[in-house]
Amino acid sequence: MDAILIGPPGSGKSAAGRLVAARRGIPFVDLDDAIEAAAGRPIPAIFESEGEAGFRSRERAAVAATVRAGQREQMSAAGRRPARFETGAGRDGDRDGGAINRIVAVGAGCIVDPGNRWRLFHAGRVLSLWAPPNVLLRRLRGAAARPLLTGRDPRLLLDGLLEQRARWYAAGEPVDASGRLISLAARIEERLSSTPPSGTSLLRAETPIGRVTIGDGDALPRLLEALAGLDARRIAVVSEPVAWRLHGERLASALSAAGLDVVTLLMPTGEAAKTVGAYARLVRSMAIARLERGDPIVAIGGGALGDVAGFAAATYLRGVPLIHVPTTLVAQIDSAIGGKTAIDIPEGKNLVGAFHQPRAVVADVATLATLPTRQRRAALGEAIKYAALGDEALFGLLEREAGSLARGRRAFGSGAMAELVERCAWAKVEIVAADQREQAGRLVLNLGHSIGHAVEAAAGYRRILHGEAVAHGLRGALAVGMACGVTPPERAERIEGLLAAAGLAQEPPGVTEDAVRKHLSRDKKHAGGRLRWVLPTGSGVVVRSDVPEDAVWAGIGAALAGRRGSGGAASVDRAADAGGGPGCAAGRDSPRAATAPAGPIR
Ligand SMILES: NC(=O)c1ccc[n+]([C@@H]2O[C@H](COP(=O)([O-])OP(=O)(O)OC[C@H]3O[C@@H](n4cnc5c(N)ncnc54)[C@H](O)[C@@H]3O)[C@@H](O)[C@H]2O)c1
Repeated sequence: MDAILIGPPGSGKSAAGRLVAARRGIPFVDLDDAIEAAAGRPIPAIFESEGEAGFRSRERAAVAATVRAGQREQMSAAGRRPARFETGAGRDGDRDGGAINRIVAVGAGCIVDPGNRWRLFHAGRVLSLWAPPNVLLRRLRGAAARPLLTGRDPRLLLDGLLEQRARWYAAGEPVDASGRLISLAARIEERLSSTPPSGTSLLRAETPIGRVTIGDGDALPRLLEALAGLDARRIAVVSEPVAWRLHGERLASALSAAGLDVVTLLMPTGEAAKTVGAYARLVRSMAIARLERGDPIVAIGGGALGDVAGFAAATYLRGVPLIHVPTTLVAQIDSAIGGKTAIDIPEGKNLVGAFHQPRAVVADVATLATLPTRQRRAALGEAIKYAALGDEALFGLLEREAGSLARGRRAFGSGAMAELVERCAWAKVEIVAADQREQAGRLVLNLGHSIGHAVEAAAGYRRILHGEAVAHGLRGALAVGMACGVTPPERAERIEGLLAAAGLAQEPPGVTEDAVRKHLSRDKKHAGGRLRWVLPTGSGVVVRSDVPEDAVWAGIGAALAGRRGSGGAASVDRAADAGGGPGCAAGRDSPRAATAPAGPIR
């Protein structure tokens, strides 16, 4: 397999890579050299004539070609054909015992692109070269011009790049690159002679709401890493039968094999885990097992399991550490992030809960491969919500891949599933980190949820999955937004296109307007007796609390009509007719986390 050297500008990837390759007598590939050779001109000239977009497109082609060439070499050396890629199967070279065949140094910004990262990181062992900014700047002074660091204040530019890219650089195995070239080469050698971690890590971030890692088949090393940071005597692995059988048991056995004292506590599957009785049994079992305040709960399962395990972690001994290992798409892109924990009571879902941030969220996309199609498809309702909040790249990904993300295995092999998880999860991290207790900015996450929750409740929480209900709610929010003049028809059509591509909300949900209306009036997001609506704008969302009655009815009508009944743009026109007269105040067009003050809509 390859040794891939990543790191910020000036970290010594090319110089050290060349040296290590020469010592080992193996080929060295400098991706920037490959790009220059293919273009027939130096990188600054490519930036000048084609801009950064042109350069990045050439870089993607170079990554694909380099990885293909590496696979061919490896396979011909082993005298066999390339194996079909399976998610979670590990890196290409793991099957060859981890021998390093090439050293590959990649440009500092190459790993920003999730597709590049997916290809490169599966191709080999990723070493992340790291040095303090002042060292990097000293090295960069006098070096060949770096297009993204030419400006008035290189230190400021460098700090910005480091902050933006830290979560991707941190996914590799760290190598201290602060000293002389010779010692850097020695540290790389030392790292390469150690046992490689299992799986492929794609993102690792220390955030104000806990460490977040995303990878493919890397749950065990990331879980061990999270546990190593705690002073735990015992570990309570909380799971439910399905997630346990498919993923939890293997992880818990590996923790025990690593010498940890593991107590396993199994909850019922699905929403049945979120009852007062099930919660009481869980905390009593923890007490019987004599778990102490420093002993963490490791929650392995979907959103329901995570919610009750999180609530137990928030309340047992007034709070114990929590690590989420989410195994459903809803849990990886939504429920495991943000610290909301809850159980249900007969009076309502999620009515009892607490904010309790996890120490770590370990999202392994390989665990999603066992998820039934309906569960994956439903989760796309939440993913479409994130796109509608203002993420253009996510919009594009869903427009290209919604079908395969819902149905097929292709989304796993191509990296589309990992990109989806990363884009959605990171959007949630950014929104929640800025507003942990839902005072303001976090409200935007309720896009599609006002009517969505009401539809889910009207269906008795059984017949319709949460994400499916959110999809109906999104159509409702589009109609309300149109009626209020804040949602442009083109935007509504684009979001409708995503719902159609994902196969969501195409048929009526089969609940009555009256039932939805009744549940809507109980929505938790009321302020001063008025529901705060999150409405799509041309490029993001706006929050309004003065939505007129007829606009709400238009929204409910559209949500319950299904795609054919609503007629796409036609429904949007009807919604506009319902309430979108000249008296409707226009919303402020704000991407993602902006919450405009609730202005009057008359
Ligand atoms: N806390 C939050 O911020 C938040 C956000 C959104 C949703 N939620 C809650 O999350 C819950 C919904 O979560 P969900 O959609 O993950 O449902 P879920 O937890 O009920 O899981 C769905 C089903 O998938 C099965 N499953 C789990 N992992 C699997 C895997 N890897 N392969 C195959 N099957 C697997 C489970 O056994 C279950 O039958 C609701 O209770 C909702 O209220 C919470």
